[in-house]
Amino acid sequence: MIREIITYPNKLLKTKSKDITLFDDDLHTLLDDMYETMMNKNGIGLAAIQIAVPLNVLIINLPNEEDKQDKSDLLEVINPKILQMDGSTIYTEGCLSVPEYYEDVQRAESIKVSFLNREGQEIIKEYEGLMAIAFQHECDHLKGELFVEKLSFLKRKKFEKEWKKKLKGKK
Ligand code: CO
Repeated sequence: MIREIITYPNKLLKTKSKDITLFDDDLHTLLDDMYETMMNKNGIGLAAIQIAVPLNVLIINLPNEEDKQDKSDLLEVINPKILQMDGSTIYTEGCLSVPEYYEDVQRAESIKVSFLNREGQEIIKEYEGLMAIAFQHECDHLKGELFVEKLSFLKRKKFEKEWKKKLKGKK
């Protein structure tokens, strides 16, 4: 089922999400709904809090070499922990909760992470490139943080101004 994605400045996006303890049908339905919701908006990543569910669950589905989002590449991440961060990289990020806004963000270039899959099995992985960036972006959502909070003071000010204008235009 496609769920509604909440957008900035909805205060729910500031919620610190809680760990999953039960790996049951409810969790699997949540993951399936998150996938449908993300694909419906052409996103490459989604955290549960973006559909107003404050649980430590995120999904990432990057396009492959043929620029297609193949479901076999879908990464389902429960209760993630970033164990190690190395290097630094800048990438122009976007977010389904801040639609149509893109800006450069600095993050670690490579990360080592641990998480659980939908069956509750522990997985330890190292990621670099876009996967490392997306993973950090989605983990920030679980802490109640958005990528616009990482911008410099001036860029943030400019964003707030543009966003206010945009919200006004929608009324
Ligand atoms: Co996001």
